[in-house]
Amino acid sequence: MAKIGLTFDDILLIPNYSEILSRMDVDLSSQVTKNFRLKLPIISANMDTITEFDMANTMSGYGALGIIHRFCSVDEEADIIQRLMLAENPLRAASIGVTGNNKARLKAVVDAGAQIICIDIAHGHHKLMAETIEMCKKFNVDVIAGNIATKEAAKFLCDCGADAIKVGIGPGSMCTTRINTGFGVPQVTAIEEVTEVAKKYNIPIIADGGIQNSGDVAKALAIGADTVMIGALFAGCKETPGTIHKEGNFPNYRLYKRYRGSASLESKQVRGDEKRNVEGISSTIDYKGPAKYVIQNIEDGLRSAFSYAGAKNIDEYHKKVKYIQKFRKDIRTV
Ligand code: XMP
Repeated sequence: MAKIGLTFDDILLIPNYSEILSRMDVDLSSQVTKNFRLKLPIISANMDTITEFDMANTMSGYGALGIIHRFCSVDEEADIIQRLMLAENPLRAASIGVTGNNKARLKAVVDAGAQIICIDIAHGHHKLMAETIEMCKKFNVDVIAGNIATKEAAKFLCDCGADAIKVGIGPGSMCTTRINTGFGVPQVTAIEEVTEVAKKYNIPIIADGGIQNSGDVAKALAIGADTVMIGALFAGCKETPGTIHKEGNFPNYRLYKRYRGSASLESKQVRGDEKRNVEGISSTIDYKGPAKYVIQNIEDGLRSAFSYAGAKNIDEYHKKVKYIQKFRKDIRTV
């Protein structure tokens, strides 16, 4: 019989007895990888319309993290990492793939000052992932490996030596994997499954994709994630790459930016890749102004969530929070 999979909208967190006197007494810090910790457990997505220097630098200012995307030249990615180092960002994280110039990219970004490497592929439970983790470990960096959504894949990545595991097959707002291929695991269930294995290895989990508000961040952490990766909520912010477009004239005008899936047709066109295996879409997002408002909103939501949980820190939060499943009429009946 088919297992039941749950996602963020299917659950709510159950309040607990609390002795938290002020939301400011809550410690939100959490491990992002085996050896590195964030003060605020959120990560801006390594997508070419989300994280380059400005976004990573802003995230860093709040004790969070931005991971630089890999959809640029090796020199461009290394240059951004070097600028983050010159700007005294304590943590510098870069992305690489598992094919092509990935070895040259790895060497360049590590030489430039990256301490965390995110091996970023759509299906992380893969032979090439194992080989790439092995290559990275020779460079004395922490490795984030993903994306995956099952216990078996979690064991595989832990055994390969990953220092953090990124979870999410198909939950992203720009993602069409589930539509194009039929594959995916609802994100709450995916986080639960991976957590069960990764905790035994003491390897942190990054919940990646499908976050629509601070409550979803609170849910992802409650289920067992240590940090949460976010694209859509940051899309349209001032610090994201890309220009601000204007449509219409004063007073009836709209400002917007583009947000595109890494495997979308638009991304493939911009990169000059073959227009096959499209597994994402692109969209316009209303201009949101500085990212600080989004970041502060998530931080405020999390502080309140920890208070409802009666948890002073992430360890207590993980242990104390239980969830209840909501009744939801399925939209599709066949
Ligand atoms: P949100 O929901 O925050 O999700 O916008 C961001 C995450 O979505 C993933 N991503 C994709 N997944 N096709 C996919 O299947 C794509 O083209 C694509 N682009 C991004 C990625 O994990 C990101 O962090």
